[in-house]
Amino acid sequence: MSLATNLAIDPARLWDTITETAKIGATPKGGVKRLTLTELDAEVRRWFIAACEEAGATVTIDDMGNIFARRPGRDNSLAPIAIGSHLDTQPTGGKFDGIIGVLSGLELLRTLKDSGYETTHPIEVIDWTNEEGSRFAPAMLSSGVFAGVFTKDWAYAREDRAGVRFGDALGEIGFVGAEPCGQHKLAAHFELHIEQGPILEAEGKIIGVVTGVQGMRWYEVTVSGNDSHAGSTPMTLRRDALLATARMIEVVHGIALEHAPHAVGTVGLIEARPNSRNVIPGETFFTVDFRHPDDSVLAVMEKKLKERLAAVADASAVTAEVTCIWNSPAVHFDADCVSAVRQAAEQGGFPHRDIISGAGHDSAYVAAVAPTTMVFVPCAGGVSHNETESAEPGDVAAGANVLLQAVLAMDAKLAEREPT
Ligand code: GLV
Ligand code: MN
Ligand code: MN
Repeated sequence: MSLATNLAIDPARLWDTITETAKIGATPKGGVKRLTLTELDAEVRRWFIAACEEAGATVTIDDMGNIFARRPGRDNSLAPIAIGSHLDTQPTGGKFDGIIGVLSGLELLRTLKDSGYETTHPIEVIDWTNEEGSRFAPAMLSSGVFAGVFTKDWAYAREDRAGVRFGDALGEIGFVGAEPCGQHKLAAHFELHIEQGPILEAEGKIIGVVTGVQGMRWYEVTVSGNDSHAGSTPMTLRRDALLATARMIEVVHGIALEHAPHAVGTVGLIEARPNSRNVIPGETFFTVDFRHPDDSVLAVMEKKLKERLAAVADASAVTAEVTCIWNSPAVHFDADCVSAVRQAAEQGGFPHRDIISGAGHDSAYVAAVAPTTMVFVPCAGGVSHNETESAEPGDVAAGANVLLQAVLAMDAKLAEREPT
């Protein structure tokens, strides 16, 4: 495959767009808080739709709120080549996670429009709803429905910690589209993202050629003990759910360490009830996030989790109910898409390496229904899910140019295969 064109994106325009949209939900520490299906999410969606329309695209929305902005190609009977990611963020999110994937797609639309370049396939930019899974678990919820992993009804019934249902929140912001989610066919799907880890920066590489995504499992744990008086309950007679939870957090950490160097384990959300300083906590709720590139190792980690939390509960005079609410198996991306990205990096002269994603991405689910891969660029210190998340403008531009060339190369390659 040779370079499809000498087209290049406009780096300053892309950076200005990133800076501009970061004002929607900007936090005092320089990050973005734009939780899915909030008014701020609606605001950035409306901005995105207007910008895509101005770039010559036609917008449709499905009934999971996924937004598709399509630029016609020469043959509009063909499925589009898509560029997708997400505009929602973590509560203490940065300006780049997900956002550069969608905005680089917009930049490609603008670049194609300015040059008058005609692709064979339509080109489509997608904003996937609720990638983060912070407000409504699990992550990648709407790309999961798109890929047939979850049903729409199940997704609609997901509740945030305040008991608001996903379906109601989607209706509230006015983004229930007419198209049934999953009906849309894609010829291929590409996603540009920051690495969210330290490898590219440490090795002086600009482009990560993403070959797959590691497996991940999420659990919810409810620990039940007994509320009682902090002053008059002897230490020997307590059934302290929070104390048991502290011991359980050590267990989660220990299991991940036993499967080093690739396993990771995190307790990221915890609620104690009644959360009063002079009441021994009678109940807790917490979450566990386990990840590993090998699903069989994750199965062993799960077995250990269940056995060891039960043992801690027994020893602490409480009970623990452990539920696996999400199992996203390891994913291997499409060989043709991966090689299109590798060649685009090579031909652009960008130092690159193959890499497996430690983070979850919509591409992991879309890969089940369309040839898919991702392009990574470095982020400072590998820091992400943090307001200080940062990336170099030149690296983001390099990633967007690799994305552009990979998309155009795939357009040409797939067109060769189409019956004429
Ligand atoms: C998604 O952001 C994840 O990897 O948790
Ligand atoms: Mn992301
Ligand atoms: Mn994220």
